[in-house]
Formats: sequence, C-alpha cells, structure tokens
Amino acid sequence: MSSSDVSRMTVRRPPFAHRRETALHWNAAKPEFSHVVNAASLAMPYLEPYLIKTMREARALVRDENLVRDLDLYCAQESAHYRQHRKFNDELKALRPETVGALEAVLDADYKWLGRERSLKFNLAYAEGFESMALALGHMLVEEREFLFGGAEPSVASLVLWHFVEEVEHKNVTFDVFKHIHDSYVWRIAGLFYATFHIMRRTRSGYQALLKKDGLWHDMRSRLALAHALFRIFASLTPKFLRILRPSYHPSEVADPAWMLAWAKLYEASDAGAARLDTARLREPFPISLPA
Ligand SMILES: [Fe+2]
Ligand SMILES: [Fe+2]
Repeated sequence: MSSSDVSRMTVRRPPFAHRRETALHWNAAKPEFSHVVNAASLAMPYLEPYLIKTMREARALVRDENLVRDLDLYCAQESAHYRQHRKFNDELKALRPETVGALEAVLDADYKWLGRERSLKFNLAYAEGFESMALALGHMLVEEREFLFGGAEPSVASLVLWHFVEEVEHKNVTFDVFKHIHDSYVWRIAGLFYATFHIMRRTRSGYQALLKKDGLWHDMRSRLALAHALFRIFASLTPKFLRILRPSYHPSEVADPAWMLAWAKLYEASDAGAARLDTARLREPFPISLPA
C-alpha cells in the first residue's frame, strides 16, 4: 500500500445548521429512509462514547507509538461525531419527545451494560466489528449518495456524509488495535456479527417507532418505499460485508472512494461549504456546495 492510498485522519467540526421544521423528514421524498438515518443517529451519542471508552482502556496495552497516535485521533473524530449527532438529535427530540426519549433510554442502558459487564476483549471486538461495518456503510453511502440524499435537506445529508467520510478515514484503527492486543479471527467475527445485529435491531425499532408516530408504519405505499430503500442499501452492502469475513481481511485493502478524497479537499477550502452540500448535484464525481 502506498502512502497516497492512506487518508490522513483529520478532526473536523463542520458548522451544520439544522432546521427544526425539516428534521424528521429531512428527505421529503423519502420519509422512510429519513427515519432509518434518524434512528441510527439516535444511537451515536451512546455508541460512540462507548467506542471511545473502550479504545482509551486499550491504549495502556498498545506498545506502538504510531498506533497510540492513531488511537487518539480516532477518539477525537468519534467525539466530534457524537457531539454533532447530539445537536441534530435534539431537533428530533423537540419534535418527538416521548418516542425519542424512550429510544434513547434503551440505547443508554445497552451501552452502559456493555461497558460495565463485558470484558475489554469483547468490547474491542464489538468496536472493531462496528468499524468494519461502518467502512462498508461509508462506501455504500457514497456510492448511493444520489439515490439516498438527492434533493434532501443539505445540513442532514452533509452531516451523514461527513461522518462516513471520517469513518472511512479511520478504517484501520480499531482493527489494528484489536489485532495488536488479541489477534483472534473468531473474536473479530463474533464482534462483527454482534455489533451488526445489535445496531440493526435498535435501528429497526427506532425507525418503526418514528414511522408509527407519523402514521406511516401501516401505510402500504410507505412500507413498499421502505422495502425498496432497504433492498438497495443491502444489495450494495452485502458484498462489502462478505469481504470482512475473510481471515486475511485488513481494512487498508479497501481503496478510498474518489468522491471522499474530493470531499476532504472541499472541506479544506470551505468548512461551511462541506456543511451545506448541494443535494441536487450529488451525481457529480466531486462534492459541490450551495452558494453562501
Ligand atoms: Fe463515528
Ligand atoms: Fe468510527
């Protein structure tokens, strides 16, 4: 692998400006997908602090100063992620206080329990499983950006795409830390399945509750639209997920998408622009912002 293939990890704080009116159905043409993302967003202020706590515990066992530096950058990126999601989630909570409050209580209890009751080995395997899946998700979101985010509220589309650009940037860190300390294929795969099914289960109950509240869960057209979006997502995700199962898998073998590298350049030129992507022009091979 040449150094040009490796993305630098950069800690960024794009100035997203969310509008409460559009927070629930930020993709007006796809309220179902909006709620899939909303449900996943609700997990971030619980999941990501748990990942950070796990990695900070592992830090004392890492005997490689480059890996310690990467671990610290990883924690800084994850910390920026959940703080930004928290701000967006606050808009959702203002509109759906009971539904969001109940979902958050479950997520809070889950990650407190994992952090308290499970071993560092288990939690590191979970962190690595989640990150491998997040890398697959990041590639899927970039590939399907026009279908999923076309015409959507720029601040939310930009939030999700920023988050997953950075998930791709830090793709190697939990893998390398897990391998440095434990190097167990069986535990890595167990962590992958546990984290994937856990997140999928909680995301599903999240979008189900939000769609029920909207009166859409029992609407046949809405259920077909949800099935269509999920089919498209899983069709793109499945081959990316399967490659993680190979015993020789290492995330560095997955080349970064050109669009993501162009996004990083856009951010360098204008952080405000990266926080306000033009969602009418996502088909372009490089990201374009709305005029200020
Ligand atoms: Fe993250
Ligand atoms: Fe991550």
